[in-house]
This record gives sequence, C-alpha cells and structure tokens, in this order.
Amino acid sequence: MATYSATALLNTGAKIPLVGLGTWQSKPNEVYEAVLTAIKAGYRHIDTAWIYGNEKEVGQAIKDSGVDRQSLFVTTKLWNNAHNPEDVEKALEVSLKNLQMEYLDLWLMHWPVAFKSGDKPVPKNADGKVELAPVDYVDTYAAMEKVVGDRVRAIGVSNFTVGKLQRLLKSASVVPAANQVELHPYLPQNELIDFCKQNKIHVTAYSPLGSTSGPVQKEPIIVDLAKKYNVEPAQVLISWAYKRGTSVLPKSVTPSRIVNNFKEVPLTAEDVANIDAIGLNKPPQRVVDPSESWGSDIYDSGAKL
Ligand SMILES: NC(=O)c1ccc[n+]([C@@H]2O[C@H](COP(=O)([O-])OP(=O)(O)OC[C@H]3O[C@@H](n4cnc5c(N)ncnc54)[C@H](OP(=O)(O)O)[C@@H]3O)[C@@H](O)[C@H]2O)c1
Repeated sequence: MATYSATALLNTGAKIPLVGLGTWQSKPNEVYEAVLTAIKAGYRHIDTAWIYGNEKEVGQAIKDSGVDRQSLFVTTKLWNNAHNPEDVEKALEVSLKNLQMEYLDLWLMHWPVAFKSGDKPVPKNADGKVELAPVDYVDTYAAMEKVVGDRVRAIGVSNFTVGKLQRLLKSASVVPAANQVELHPYLPQNELIDFCKQNKIHVTAYSPLGSTSGPVQKEPIIVDLAKKYNVEPAQVLISWAYKRGTSVLPKSVTPSRIVNNFKEVPLTAEDVANIDAIGLNKPPQRVVDPSESWGSDIYDSGAKL
C-alpha cells in the first residue's frame, strides 16, 4: 500500500505535505517517540501548539530524526493568552526556542479568542470564569503579519468561520496561508472549504478521526470500506480527507497506528461520494467546542456551520 506523498501549494508558494502528525494530548514522554516513528514512516509534516506543552519534545525528536529541517513542514500556534499585539513576537520567540528551530513553516492563531495576558494559559476569575481580554483578533493578526520573514515562513489562522475570515480579510495585508479547522464526515464544512478555495486559503483538517471519542470511526459506511480494503477505519477517514485536497492531521502515539495512518487507501470516486453522503444525512456534529467554557461565540451561533 502506497504511503502519502502529495503536497498542496500554499499562497506563499511553499508546499504543505497533505498528511501530518497531530500532537494534541500527546504527552511529552510519548510525543518524542511518536514524532520519531512518524518521520521514520515518511511523515514530513508535524503539527504542534504552544498550549500542547510538548513543543520541546517535538523539536528534540525532529532534531534527532536525522532528516534535515528543510525537508520537514512544522506548524505551531499562538495561544490565546498572547493575543495582545505586544505579546505576539515574544510568544513566537518562546515557541522557536522550545522547538530549537530557526524558523516555523506555519504559525497559526490558535483561536479567534483573546484571554487576559499573563503566565496563566487559561486565566480565571474568582467565579471560575475564563478571563477574556478586549483584543480583536484582527489586531493580533496584524501583529503576526509583522513577523513573517526568516523566522515565520507563513502565517494563518485556526477555528475561523467564513464570517470571521471575511472580517479578517477586509484589513489583512497578508492573506492567511491556512485555516486549520475540525473536519470529518460528521462535520464536512463544505461551505467553509469553498470559501477558502476562492480566497486561496489552504484548509487543514483537525480531529479527522473524531478525536479521542472517535464516533465517526464506527460509522457503518466507514467500517464497511475498512473491511473492503482490509484497513483500519481511521485509514479510510484520512484517505477521504486527503482525496478532498485538505491537509489532514491524524494524532496517534501508538506506533502501529502511526505507521498505518500513513498508508493511502485507494478509495474510488464512488467510495468518496458515499462518505460525502454521511454529512448530508446528519446534522453537523462538532467534537471540539470550547465556546461555552470560554464564554465566546467562536462558531458564530445562528450562522450556518
Ligand atoms: N487547531 C486546533 O484548535 C486543533 C484542535 C484539535 C486538534 N488539532 C490538531 O489536529 C490533530 C488531530 O486531532 P485530535 O488529536 O483531536 O484527534 P484525531 O486525530 O481525530 O484522533 C486521535 C485519537 O484517535 C486515536 N487513533 C489514532 N489512530 C488510530 C487508528 N488507526 N485507529 C484507531 N484509533 C486511532 C488516537 O489514539 P492513540 O494516540 O492512543 O493511538 C487518539 O485517541 C491534533 O493532535 C492537533 O495536532 C488542532
């Protein structure tokens, strides 16, 4: 079975490998081995974030992998407590130091939500409510634009809806290279993908396996296709995302899964259409939605998903 090799072209002219290793909830002691296993299996794209608390181990594994930095595509993300424009460059320096890297291939604004600045990743008031800051993501993005160059090859966003992208594009001088969002057959986000295509914003699929709860892996069509090709349901989901031209970030710390997840399933056009149909027959379902706990209307409730 062939492994994934295709890339997509970003609006910067750089290439992003379509299948990358996700590392959210990969504990520091597990992630080092996971990244090494992935690179050995052929992955050339690794996704991390400051808030995952594992940038150091991810960077160390990349360094120890023996594969040169130019051949790899590394993404990390600016956390919500560093949205104040004055904090942005400092946050970049911390991530670069953690990763032991001279540059990032892609730096994303993790969420369109600003927390109070400071050392606490999730600052809370006496009532236990998350403390937000009156910083507009448009201003945070403008500060990110200023660091594009030798240390940051491309900037982008994550968890942005069509409405928020439209608002951002009105003032942005650098079109985001990517928007990283939750995508799987229960949340296909066709409208968002179309909008991004029209605006030359690459889309990356996160939680492609439905994250840790993984209900989509048990969907009958996915299970049947896995049987048909003698593969794991997760592999079918990854190949579907790949066929759509999005990049996709399956997370695993299990060596056999890391290896299998990088093997392409030769889905036919009919298979892809059958998987597409899952989303047409069900209301969209998100697995990652901190809107309520953060007290922020992240997904523009009332607007279409
Ligand atoms: N930008 C954002 O806000 C955001 C949000 C969420 C995620 N992400 C990114 O996207 C990545 C992926 O999303 P995710 O971590 O939420 O979830 P995911 O990749 O959809 O699913 C991960 C879960 O699936 C399991 N798994 C992996 N391969 C499998 C296989 N072949 N068969 C069965 N189970 C399998 C993993 O278990 P084991 O690890 O135990 O093998 C883990 O429990 C993240 O790691 C992160 O890099 C970004």
